[in-house]
Amino acid sequence: MASNTSTANSTDTVLRTENLNIYYGNFLAVRDVWLDIPKHKATAFIGPSGCGKSTLLRCYNRLNDLIESFRAEGKVYYYGKNLYAPDIDPVEVRRRIGMVFQRPNPFPKSIYDNITFGAKINGYKGNMDELVERSLRQAALWDEVKDKLRQSGLSLSGGQQQRLCIARAIAVQPEIILMDEPCSALDPISTLRVEELIHELKEQYTIVIVTHNMQQAARVSDMTAFFNVQTTEKGGRSGYLVEYDSTEVIFNNPKQADTRDYVSGRFG
Ligand SMILES: Nc1ncnc2c1ncn2[C@@H]1O[C@H](COP(=O)(O)OP(=O)(O)OP(=O)(O)O)[C@@H](O)[C@H]1O
Ligand SMILES: [Mg+2]
Repeated sequence: MASNTSTANSTDTVLRTENLNIYYGNFLAVRDVWLDIPKHKATAFIGPSGCGKSTLLRCYNRLNDLIESFRAEGKVYYYGKNLYAPDIDPVEVRRRIGMVFQRPNPFPKSIYDNITFGAKINGYKGNMDELVERSLRQAALWDEVKDKLRQSGLSLSGGQQQRLCIARAIAVQPEIILMDEPCSALDPISTLRVEELIHELKEQYTIVIVTHNMQQAARVSDMTAFFNVQTTEKGGRSGYLVEYDSTEVIFNNPKQADTRDYVSGRFG
């Protein structure tokens, strides 16, 4: 048996991506991705704009299904189960694999209702007050909002709103949290708070984070995948995975020259 040098293979794999090609209509947006996401680690996706980081991330919770022209070839396995098999319910997938977006997007409801919304839909039978407190504590927001739970989520600062969105994602007890540039609309202090939070969340959740901030990728992630874009024979520009390894290797001793150029800021 061939020995595997990738640390991803020595850990439990939660998501396995095999030979994945993602299209919007005839446009091949991302090609031939093979990538294993390890359990209870943070994996960062980095690469230039348009290389398909968000597109790939959205494949992991079937959010691309909402885009009419979207089509995927290949396999995405969640604990060995093909996420695109006909008997899979995308709503259930999204409960287990939550998402936090670039712009904080609380519902126009109270802080309390933002947290309980998903739980109610899922028929949660536990104590709602406890769920609200636990989720807000896990998202490091409880102390700041415990006296104003009935206020609108939109009344919070941007950094607080993003932590509210993280609390909302946690409240439905997902296994994986996908984060697409979760700090890009935040100030440096709020960014650091979210990064600390990611460190804590990893103990219970698997995190996949897209970021344009190299320092952030280096600080928060265990594994890093570097993607790039390349002009194809047909003249389109498809994204592809250049290199995937431990964050340590990607930042200090990458195998590919393109990776080295990108992480050191000498790119494009
Ligand atoms: N809904 C869509 N319909 C058609 N093409 C799309 C759609 N969403 C993304 N694309 C295209 O797919 C490619 C990858 O886009 P994607 O948003 O995944 O890149 P990204 O790496 O997340 O970029 P950024 O860093 O700017 O967020 C781009 O060429 C983009 O124009
Ligand atoms: Mg994106």
